[in-house]
Amino acid sequence: MQRTIVFMKHCCFVLIAMCCYLIAGAQQKELTNQVKEQLILEGSEQAIVLQVEINGDLNMVYLGPKLLHSSDYRRLASQYKQADDYTGMYRAAYTGSGSRNLLEPAISVRHADGNQSLDLKYLNHEFITVNHNIGELRVLLKDALYPFEVDLHYRIYQKENVIEQWATIRHHEKGAVELVKYSSANLNLKADNFWLKHYHGDWIKEMQPEEEKLTHGIKTIDSKLGTRANLFQHSSFLLSFNGPAKEDEGSVLIGGLAWSGNFKIDFEKDPQDNLRILAGINNYASTYILQKNEEFITPKFVYTISDQGIGNASRNLHNWARRYQLLDGGGSRLTLLNNWEATYFDFNEDKLSSLLKDTKKLGVDLFLLDDGWFGNKYPRNSDTAALGDWEENREKLPNGLVSLVKEAASNGVKFGIWVEPEMVSPKSELYEKHPDWVVKQEGRPEYYFRNQLVLDLSNPKVQDFVFKTLDDLFVKNPGLAYVKWDCNAVIYNAYSPYLKSQGNFYVDYVKGLYAVLERIRAKYPRIPMMLCSGGGGRVDYGALRYFTEYWPSDNTDPLERIFMQYEYSFFYPTLASANHVTDWGDQPIKFKVDVAMMGKLGFDIVVSKLPKEDLAFCQQALKTYDELKPIIWQGDQFRLANPREKDYASILYVNENRDSGVIFNYLVNYRQNTGTPVPIKFKGLDPVKSYRLEEINLYNGESSLINPGETYTGDFLMKVGFNPYLSSKRKSVVLKLTAVS
Ligand code: GLA
Repeated sequence: MQRTIVFMKHCCFVLIAMCCYLIAGAQQKELTNQVKEQLILEGSEQAIVLQVEINGDLNMVYLGPKLLHSSDYRRLASQYKQADDYTGMYRAAYTGSGSRNLLEPAISVRHADGNQSLDLKYLNHEFITVNHNIGELRVLLKDALYPFEVDLHYRIYQKENVIEQWATIRHHEKGAVELVKYSSANLNLKADNFWLKHYHGDWIKEMQPEEEKLTHGIKTIDSKLGTRANLFQHSSFLLSFNGPAKEDEGSVLIGGLAWSGNFKIDFEKDPQDNLRILAGINNYASTYILQKNEEFITPKFVYTISDQGIGNASRNLHNWARRYQLLDGGGSRLTLLNNWEATYFDFNEDKLSSLLKDTKKLGVDLFLLDDGWFGNKYPRNSDTAALGDWEENREKLPNGLVSLVKEAASNGVKFGIWVEPEMVSPKSELYEKHPDWVVKQEGRPEYYFRNQLVLDLSNPKVQDFVFKTLDDLFVKNPGLAYVKWDCNAVIYNAYSPYLKSQGNFYVDYVKGLYAVLERIRAKYPRIPMMLCSGGGGRVDYGALRYFTEYWPSDNTDPLERIFMQYEYSFFYPTLASANHVTDWGDQPIKFKVDVAMMGKLGFDIVVSKLPKEDLAFCQQALKTYDELKPIIWQGDQFRLANPREKDYASILYVNENRDSGVIFNYLVNYRQNTGTPVPIKFKGLDPVKSYRLEEINLYNGESSLINPGETYTGDFLMKVGFNPYLSSKRKSVVLKLTAVS
């Protein structure tokens, strides 16, 4: 029997979709004598086919472009020889360990009686129409011997072509079961060869790509850092089929785990040359104790597949993120002036008063007060004390935050604040009062990362404390309009004095963090919050449910940022990228502003020290940004030139109607003064429309090499292109694109 469900684009098609389901469901047909049933989930471009074998095994037999005729999926059954699978388990949809499996398992358990075997069999399934755009297939698997079950979830966002996969694990055994491994997803892919692009990094060197052809065996990307889990490796990756990833052609999969803690993604090229992806929470030091009748819900593994290269795949992911995942993804963002690099810890009310005036003068929406405003017994005058003591320092701020928030309002700007609520300084009143709230190993020396320790968020009392830290700030300062949530330490000496089962610690820490964020969002649903972690040490789609933006890196040298922002853009929409103009880098301020505009623009400079013409430039650029930000934030992004492949970078944003756009061009290598020897080909335009190109972000009175009077058809711009005339004297050129007919 073959069953198909097709999720249609619009509500008015729901009825038709139901008919499709009924019609397809009626097409009962024996597939082969090995195969009982196929379960097919289709998006508008891609499809997943699961196959229930006669022996009850559930296999993933297809993940790829949607076929024109859904009846063709049945042919898959005869195309791959079951006999080639020694155990029939190479393509398992969720590979259990300890019975017939010979490869990397998706799940591994120790039953209540100590037995370590698992052989999951299909029991039933259901197709759930979540709404007109979202469909879900849920399949229940059960062990043949033990009362141990797994629900596999496959959720597809039809229009965006994004799939979320996760598992719900439960049991009814006599005692607790140890979950030794518990992946979110187990994918099986077919191609001649596979290429993986993944990311490594460190502080101020985030998002460094490496691409390689996968060979037989297992390639793993993972984190064991606990918090700021992406500092060394990133949980998002790019996989391409039959060659390195290309921007506009070829089959690619972009994936990532929506989890803000330890992750592990295995890419196993099996003896039959298939690729198995096993993605989930890292089981490192994390054998999880699951009590009888409890449920363990894994985080979601999010991915999209495209046969038109990474450009299309990442636009799909951006659309999905803005519509369904990123907090306030369809909304606006606040431009800001941050005082971190202007003052570090050295400020008082007078200094802040003048910064509030500068905020207004510059023309941004908000002033963000960074680290250093708290702690009395141990004042926060350096990074060695006071984390956890979230009370205004009376010497620096005798009138408290309340008066600053009011003063900001009287200056016509909003006020935001920096916190690092998951952390504690060894020198703090909090540590003195609650040593049992701190993650550490009794009897072993304490290890510090940036002179600090991590609070034990698996403990509900600590969760209450962290929630209250934020809640108090908002209750006492109702005008507070923004939070920068930092996280500057990793977890050393992982141990929770609260937990009975230490194997649960890394997982329960993240669950505790999410529980706090849930409470904050229930009470303050829309306050913008920046996800920061000593730079880009933490960004993933699990956290972005609660945050409006992330901080890509403390490295704000604009040349470095061109490269980093380019890589981040494969995974996250521009709207979420907090980019600040700072003193890093020796480029002129125009270059810095241009780069920071490709995201959410902010400043962290001493405004009063800006030369008059630079200040005027920034003020004008902010006005231009106000006009263009809907396109940059909500438009489609097209990467035109990769700075790792060429001497320049070029990125275009265009609105849905294809009548307004903005193109950012930068020269990144000027050793031989090559500039842009050839025109840069545009993408995503309407070929029959005519467009005017105008250079923007120029200094007052500066003339451009580009004649704003000329128009070009979309066809010309996409086939021939346009030369922005980058050169060592014009290292950054921003163009506004307007359809004139
Ligand atoms: C981290 C952040 C910085 C700044 C400092 C403050 O390093 O990434 O932006 O907020 O902490 O201590």
